[in-house]
Amino acid sequence: MPTVTMIGGGQLARMTHQAAIALGQRLRVLAERPDDPAAQVSPDTVLGSHTDLTALRKAAVGSHVLTFDHEHVPTEHLEALIAEGVNVQPPPTALIYAQDKLAMRRRLAEFGEPIPAFTEVESVADAVRFGDEHGWPVVIKAVRGGYDGRGVWMADTAAEVEPVVKDQLAHGVSLLAEQKVRLRRELSAMVARSPFGQAAVWPVVETVQRDGQCAVVIAPAPDLSQELATRAESLALRLAAELGVTGVMAVELFETDDGELLINELAMRPHNSGHWGMDGAVTGQFEQHLRAVLDYPLGDTSPLAPVTVMANILGAPVAPDMSMDERLHHLFARMPEARVHLYGKGERPHRKIGHINVLGDDVAQVREKAERAAHWMSHAVWTDGWDPHGEH
Ligand SMILES: Nc1ncnc2c1ncn2[C@@H]1O[C@H](COP(=O)(O)OP(=O)(O)O)[C@@H](O)[C@H]1O
Ligand SMILES: [Mg+2]
Repeated sequence: MPTVTMIGGGQLARMTHQAAIALGQRLRVLAERPDDPAAQVSPDTVLGSHTDLTALRKAAVGSHVLTFDHEHVPTEHLEALIAEGVNVQPPPTALIYAQDKLAMRRRLAEFGEPIPAFTEVESVADAVRFGDEHGWPVVIKAVRGGYDGRGVWMADTAAEVEPVVKDQLAHGVSLLAEQKVRLRRELSAMVARSPFGQAAVWPVVETVQRDGQCAVVIAPAPDLSQELATRAESLALRLAAELGVTGVMAVELFETDDGELLINELAMRPHNSGHWGMDGAVTGQFEQHLRAVLDYPLGDTSPLAPVTVMANILGAPVAPDMSMDERLHHLFARMPEARVHLYGKGERPHRKIGHINVLGDDVAQVREKAERAAHWMSHAVWTDGWDPHGEH
């Protein structure tokens, strides 16, 4: 059975490992530290940096395919590995569009795909000119390396744009500016594609962000017209083929106030917006990613319930006194149907440390339950006032 190498030892690699176990595969990870979420569980961990070609080579030797838990491996290293015979999926020619938000926008503009107006920003004047032409507010983004809203700044006026752009450029951060979209909500269309060219999409989901970070996912997206759902799914399938993507890809979308879809960002790896499928779909994204990069036939993406809601467990501003273990105990006692996934990470404010999936029939009820459970796990407080040690 194959060995798969995943670069990066975060929770995505940890959950891919979980899927690899069921398929009789071995997941080797390249992790920075022995206590990274995936390094804790894989007996086949190579310690090292994803920017170090020697470490990448060591992780790749003898494995069937090399893939990613994040998008930050320099493409020149991947080209070097490919020249040495390593099977890299997705290939760097596709991955670049998940690494570089400017390259992605330029390429998608060439394809005529729907994206917000944007421009490269090499000076404060570039950003101000863009705002004056396209209207304020504008969004400034780091071209590379941002995640969970880090690397995204909203500016209402030229006066606000100036310090951000000055500061970031001074630190050597490449920037772009784009129109702030008036959005009804955010969606994600998740697709898997194999080197052979088989592709499969999951139902389009709604993603709810707080402070630029994904907090809740509702699958499928409630009240999405069939027309828009089909448009989003075809868009994801088309992009995957156009860009030569292999493995899973999340296409982050904006649904605008006037009912249009705009592409925000691409992730060519398992993604937070696909966690619901671990419990809520016949085939979840982690297994599907393995199937896709290994060029197996893909799995059925059908949902298992009318609604699945995923709520992230985020580190509280101050970690509760009650231990995580005790919180889990209470959660299980109160909500036996909650599906819990914990990442083995320390609690730090806003850090993604786990997630909860709840399946059911009614969007509002399922969402309330999933968010209540996640909030409990983060804060050791029941939002409905329930006292775990009281008399019931
Ligand atoms: N052009 C925009 N208009 C309105 N909101 C935006 C825009 N760009 C980003 N956002 C908001 O910021 C969040 C994070 O931006 P994104 O580009 O996806 O960065 P990250 O790489 O941190 O996920 C988005 O999910 C959305 O809520
Ligand atoms: Mg994003």
